[in-house]
Amino acid sequence: MYIRKVSDELIIPEKNLKKEERYQLLYPQLEALIAGEKDLFANLGNLCAALKEAMGFLWIGFYRVEGDELVLSSFQGPVACTRIKKGKGVCGKAWELNETILVPNVDEFPGHIACSSASKSEIVIPIVKDQKVVFILDVDSNELNHFDKVDEAALQKIAVRIAALL
Ligand code: SME
Repeated sequence: MYIRKVSDELIIPEKNLKKEERYQLLYPQLEALIAGEKDLFANLGNLCAALKEAMGFLWIGFYRVEGDELVLSSFQGPVACTRIKKGKGVCGKAWELNETILVPNVDEFPGHIACSSASKSEIVIPIVKDQKVVFILDVDSNELNHFDKVDEAALQKIAVRIAALL
């Protein structure tokens, strides 16, 4: 069986599939979700919901670059910090460096900002438009070492797709 559950808008890939396969089954569905809708925040909200439900993340969301700080934007999961200064936490660091940061254990990342005590590992991907970081995609898991190169490649691909919406 490839499908665990069909919700109104989303076919959830079976959990025992390889992570690559689960992302592969999701891509066309993510495209379908944003097709025909021009509103950025509606699309970002639905992308968060689909990814969280299908991949079992604790938290997924976007921070928007505004001046010298990041401001919380569309997300799914527990309530989160609303503003993060450049260079602070994993998100501010990924923005400053314009690099994806993969954190296997958040307790070992100097300056990590704990929005939820349930978060154990994290990945942060900058979304770049015209060579500038304009959004940050942040994903948290309640398991240590949750994220790997497969998540990194998949979420970077999604970040590039989102940049094309901006
Ligand atoms: N942990 C992040 C803060 C954002 S929350 O995880 C939603 C950080 O250190 O930047």
